[in-house]
Amino acid sequence: MKINELDIPEQIKRIIVQHGYNQLYPPQEEAITAGVLNRKNVVLASPTASGKTLVAELCILKNILENDTKCIYLTPLRALANEKYEEFKKYRELTKSNGDKLEISLSTGDYDSTDEWLGKYDIIISTNEKADSLLRHKAPWMQQIDTIVADEIHLLTDQGRGPTLEITLTKLMKLNPDAQFLLLSATVKNADEISKWIKGIPITTEWRPVPLREGVFYDGEIQFKDGSARRILTETKKPAIDIALDILKQGGQALIFTQTRRDAVSYGKNISKVLSRKISTSLKKDLKTVADKILTSGERTGLSEILAEQVKLGTAFHHAGLNASHRRLIEESFKDGKIKILSATPTLAAGVNLPARAVLISNYRRYDPKSWSEEISVLEYKQLAGRAGRPKYDKVGESILIAKTSVEQEQLMGKYVRSEPEKIWSKLSIENVLRPHVLSTIATGFAYTEEDLYDFFSQTFHAQQYDFKMLQIKVKKILRFLFNEEMITMESGKLLATPFGRRVSELYIDPVSAVIIRDGLYNRPEKLTEVSILQLVSHTPDLSPKLYPRGKESEQLIAYASEHSSELIFKQPDPWNSMYSYEQNLDDFISEIKCVAVMNDWIQEITENDLLGKYKVESGDLLRLTQTAEWLIFASNQLARLFQHKDLIRKFPILRRRIQYGIKEELIELVGLQGIGRIRARMLHNAGLHKIVDIRKANLQSLVSVPTIGTTLAKNIKKQIEDKNPVN
Ligand SMILES: Nc1ncnc2c1ncn2[C@@H]1O[C@H](COP(=O)(O)OP(=O)(O)OP(=O)(O)O)[C@@H](O)[C@H]1O
Ligand SMILES: [Mg+2]
Repeated sequence: MKINELDIPEQIKRIIVQHGYNQLYPPQEEAITAGVLNRKNVVLASPTASGKTLVAELCILKNILENDTKCIYLTPLRALANEKYEEFKKYRELTKSNGDKLEISLSTGDYDSTDEWLGKYDIIISTNEKADSLLRHKAPWMQQIDTIVADEIHLLTDQGRGPTLEITLTKLMKLNPDAQFLLLSATVKNADEISKWIKGIPITTEWRPVPLREGVFYDGEIQFKDGSARRILTETKKPAIDIALDILKQGGQALIFTQTRRDAVSYGKNISKVLSRKISTSLKKDLKTVADKILTSGERTGLSEILAEQVKLGTAFHHAGLNASHRRLIEESFKDGKIKILSATPTLAAGVNLPARAVLISNYRRYDPKSWSEEISVLEYKQLAGRAGRPKYDKVGESILIAKTSVEQEQLMGKYVRSEPEKIWSKLSIENVLRPHVLSTIATGFAYTEEDLYDFFSQTFHAQQYDFKMLQIKVKKILRFLFNEEMITMESGKLLATPFGRRVSELYIDPVSAVIIRDGLYNRPEKLTEVSILQLVSHTPDLSPKLYPRGKESEQLIAYASEHSSELIFKQPDPWNSMYSYEQNLDDFISEIKCVAVMNDWIQEITENDLLGKYKVESGDLLRLTQTAEWLIFASNQLARLFQHKDLIRKFPILRRRIQYGIKEELIELVGLQGIGRIRARMLHNAGLHKIVDIRKANLQSLVSVPTIGTTLAKNIKKQIEDKNPVN
């Protein structure tokens, strides 16, 4: 089927053809034959790179241009939302029936906002969490949404984040019963079940633009699923590296998935040793430029230096400990072929679209700080394997697991290669993830009575997969909790959220976190300091990532806690008071104190490199930790207002800024300038420029003489100050 033959407005066809698409891929044809362009709800389960996005684009654009409606496109991650936004920008030249151009917006940020401005856009690309929060704020334009696309819907089965997607879709169905739903994923076995839920049609295809060969390596040879085999030359001690070198010899790139971050780094190190001899001088020159960029963007740490060294030789590691700019540089350099072999933890597979000719799974176990290690699911394996084969570059993709014995080789063949992914199971009944959703369903008026509430939950995917009684019991229990904590009340037979409950729902925090914060604010320690507030937010289940002590660190953290004991809201557990759960409580306490200690050092301007040395906390984790803490400090401030703790209201915003930038209070004014972060603000301060007025008085030359401030930045700072306070 050709694009030009489709029953869609001509202007859409023109843009698509201009961008080089003429013929539809088979899965796209199937979706169209099934009626996706005639408002049929569809679950499209089709492999990686089989063109699911174009199906969504055709459907969205047709609906908007023909019916003057709005669309929301949901993705699990900000990075993916950004990627889609870039892809969709080309459609801004389309003209709607009223003569206006099509408008597209990206909404992934602030969770405490109605974002009414979004109302004027035709396509809104958002993360699942942001859409959930917009629903909680009752953004009025949500009711006008007529096309809903949800990408990567295998997330439904994820214990942590699946329920948010499930509730968001349920609410959207309830709000807009006639809207069209299109659900997409590469690894869904039970598309039929999911399609029943959305009253749609399941489409499952196995079609791939680049065929995939899956196999298992053992003893110098890869055994493929189709019965063929290939011998691999042994050059190093690691089979995954030998296979990667083999792929490189054939002109391809390889992606090695490792179990831990440390493995990813050490694989990179080992690869760089052998790769140096195999790459050209001109490539080395290009790589040197990338390495220099790594060293000059963000704070320099031991980890970024190791990364730069590897990049110089054509390899790199990629994991959640890297900061965002380094991660982006690595992804771009791999995409444009400069980095030849990349070793990564599986977080990469979920986050970005980064195919390679070969995907090598060096270890089929995943690191888990609690249970140490656990085998990855078939679904996760298929997600990793699906990355193999770069359209336009590779004729075939290969995905290889590494076995240590012949028995293991057979096992892996059976468990992963020859198997289908597990079914998608709703995780809605997990109490702590269900809790905020019960509150938000009441707070946003999706249910006014207990019956309403059960009726709402009976329309979830969970209710379709399991006996509803199970969910009902959980909902009832949560309802009792919310009553007891005064987040909901009953007024003349009507279930209503109290101002506390409503605010908690809007603030997008777990009701349990809200109770901890509320009670903590009344339960002041002897001396209320930054440490107290940092502990308050670290004590909540919402703070992430959790930091675990290493080696002897526990003792040091306990010492730290006793040093600060007069500032602590939650004291060290006492073995006499909590006999049964003492060990768990102590572990939680130590891990909470670690978060406090790290963040307290951060706001004392300890460098990222020293934090890495002292606590083994990498830049990426530090960023996530400070971002969630910042949010919880904001939420605490809102609750302090609600409960009228007037004396605290000033403290929170200051600490929030300090956490955001990693600075002492005296730098807050300076970091308000664009281009000035913690390092440069400190340099300015050391040079005697403490406030904006000091900078205004200083001449350009003295600004440029401050280390880390170049001429362009100095001019830019001057301009910002003038713009803020124009001289009359
Ligand atoms: N009909 C087509 N002709 C040529 N190229 C196409 C066609 N449809 C899609 N593509 C290209 O195929 C690539 C993969 O498409 P897409 O991103 O939609 O994959 P996907 O099915 O969403 O995969 P994933 O599960 O990895 O998200 C894109 O680069 C896209 O431009
Ligand atoms: Mg996709």
